[in-house]
Amino acid sequence: MKILVTGGTGFTGKALVKRLLDGGHSVVALDYKEGLKSQELRTWGAQVIIGSVTDAGVVERCMSGVEIVMHLAAAFRELNVPNSYYTEVNVGGTRLMLAAARKAGVRKFIYCSTCGVHGNIAHPPGGEDSPIQPADYYQQTKYEAEPLVLEANRQGLPSVILRPAAIYGPGDPERFMMIFKRVARGRFPMFGSGRTLYHPLYVDNLVDAFLLAMEPGKGDGQAYLIADEDYFEIEELVRRVAKALGVTVRIPHYPVWPVVVAGHICEKICKPFKITPPIFPRRVDWYRQNRAFKIDKAKRDLGYRPRVGIDEGLKATAEWCRREGYL
Ligand SMILES: NC(=O)c1ccc[n+]([C@@H]2O[C@H](COP(=O)([O-])OP(=O)(O)OC[C@H]3O[C@@H](n4cnc5c(N)ncnc54)[C@H](OP(=O)(O)O)[C@@H]3O)[C@@H](O)[C@H]2O)c1
Repeated sequence: MKILVTGGTGFTGKALVKRLLDGGHSVVALDYKEGLKSQELRTWGAQVIIGSVTDAGVVERCMSGVEIVMHLAAAFRELNVPNSYYTEVNVGGTRLMLAAARKAGVRKFIYCSTCGVHGNIAHPPGGEDSPIQPADYYQQTKYEAEPLVLEANRQGLPSVILRPAAIYGPGDPERFMMIFKRVARGRFPMFGSGRTLYHPLYVDNLVDAFLLAMEPGKGDGQAYLIADEDYFEIEELVRRVAKALGVTVRIPHYPVWPVVVAGHICEKICKPFKITPPIFPRRVDWYRQNRAFKIDKAKRDLGYRPRVGIDEGLKATAEWCRREGYL
């Protein structure tokens, strides 16, 4: 099949593009910037189109002959942009993608949302019916695109929403890399109790979910939380990372509230000067927002089974970090 992956050079997008190509599909990747990653995708055999999901002309051009759309492109880690940028890319971009997909007669549209639409889970583990309470502008705009996807489904474009938990694995330039780096230094400062729940998702498990959602009739008009089998307290997660790296780690505890306040102040001060703040609210949320989910619905409807567990996933990630010279 011919499959369009937006955000195909991103962390998850790359893993997805590789698996689709290995499976014999033809892949078009739409991405924002030309660079080493887009060149790498081309060497694998993907067609890469450079442009924005907010550009109607580019989006229409990408859709030619496409049967399945996997929409992952998102404003995600950008800190020095106004909130309206998140709306433009995450909501406006998804709207354009859906309209172009309908026009092109696409058979299935898979929208990559986030578990973050549920914010802090008051009664873990949460499910798809847990309250929608995004904690920041990124999560809010990811959620605002969901009704557009459901509306497109009602209008005849079979569409599925996946809400991944915290994605990690080889190729992750950000989140787990920071945990790995600190643990590798032998000391991980823990703000708060360390008992906050965290639900990881190994990138290959998420790719499995995308492949399952491609199948005709599966999950249309539904949203699915996608995560690994197990969730952990963050202190336990840090210890598992130490085990994967083969190091011992000290975990001194500090109060979390001063860091919360500092995160807000840093963000406010840095934003007008377009400086990346050293700490900011979304980073601090890691220490205090419970993220633990049931994945029963995805198991039941999509046949989802997370194949890679935490120790295996962390070991593969640790090896990748070392191979790439990050540690
Ligand atoms: N990482 C997580 O833990 C997590 C958890 C839940 C959900 N998600 C969702 O999963 C998806 C993939 O996440 P990820 O971690 O793999 O993110 P990522 O590495 O940041 O990838 C996002 C990709 O989207 C591209 N992009 C951004 N704006 C674009 C635009 N206007 N037009 C075209 N492409 C654009 C980026 O291109 P450039 O790099 O060139 O800017 C990047 O390649 C996202 O939809 C995210 O919201 C992620």
